[in-house]
Amino acid sequence: MPLAIARQVSARFAECELTHIQREPIDIAKARAQHAEYVRALQELGCHVVELPAEDDLPDSVFVEDAAFILPEVAVITRPGADSRKPETVSVADALRPHRDLIFVREPATIDGGDVLVLERDIYVGLSSRTNAAAIQQLQAMLGRHGYCVHGVEVDKFLHLKSAVTRLDEGTLLLNPAWIDASLFGKFEHVEVAPSEPMAANILVINGTGIYPTSFPETQARIEAHGTQLVTLDVSEIAKAEGAVTCCSLILQ
Ligand code: GLY
Repeated sequence: MPLAIARQVSARFAECELTHIQREPIDIAKARAQHAEYVRALQELGCHVVELPAEDDLPDSVFVEDAAFILPEVAVITRPGADSRKPETVSVADALRPHRDLIFVREPATIDGGDVLVLERDIYVGLSSRTNAAAIQQLQAMLGRHGYCVHGVEVDKFLHLKSAVTRLDEGTLLLNPAWIDASLFGKFEHVEVAPSEPMAANILVINGTGIYPTSFPETQARIEAHGTQLVTLDVSEIAKAEGAVTCCSLILQ
């Protein structure tokens, strides 16, 4: 059974970091209700969910994906690029310690987990406003011994690499071709988001079923035509914080 780590929404969620979108009022009660539905979806898809308590002084801390990434051999504890987010890693490391050996990204490197796409032994890392070249060097030094190859990918029009590309199934990616070049990922086929839905490339697939926002109906139809079953969720308040479905959990297989 996969283990999912999630964290409840901070009371100060509305003070989140924003980079590429305008601030809009966030309804905290609605955000919490949407997050509860997300946790329920993880459970219904077979995950055992460990839900960490809210960290009210860390507005973005619901986005646990940015604090770590998980490999079969180790968990990498990141060093998030936004100063307001750096303390988020402490409790995530504590939650992961029983499950993996931990390795830590160190200064001067910065990296958000949302910039990390692991495809077998290739780790693609977005060089974004949050993640720098020193992180790529550290990851290659730390993970090369486990047989991984780390590749930097330029990210500029969007927050994180996984805003533009995520894994749909064993051989297929979901991606926005206006933001990312599919040929970077070699052997993988891809499903493209609808041009009118640029933010639609983020999906979280658990045991073959995708957790996906209700807000991208044209891309949803493309994913379903590809043959992937979906559980769709209203995540409007999470999206106002520049978050997406992968951002709200860390999955350990
Ligand atoms: N609000 C999500 C982030 O900027 O990290």
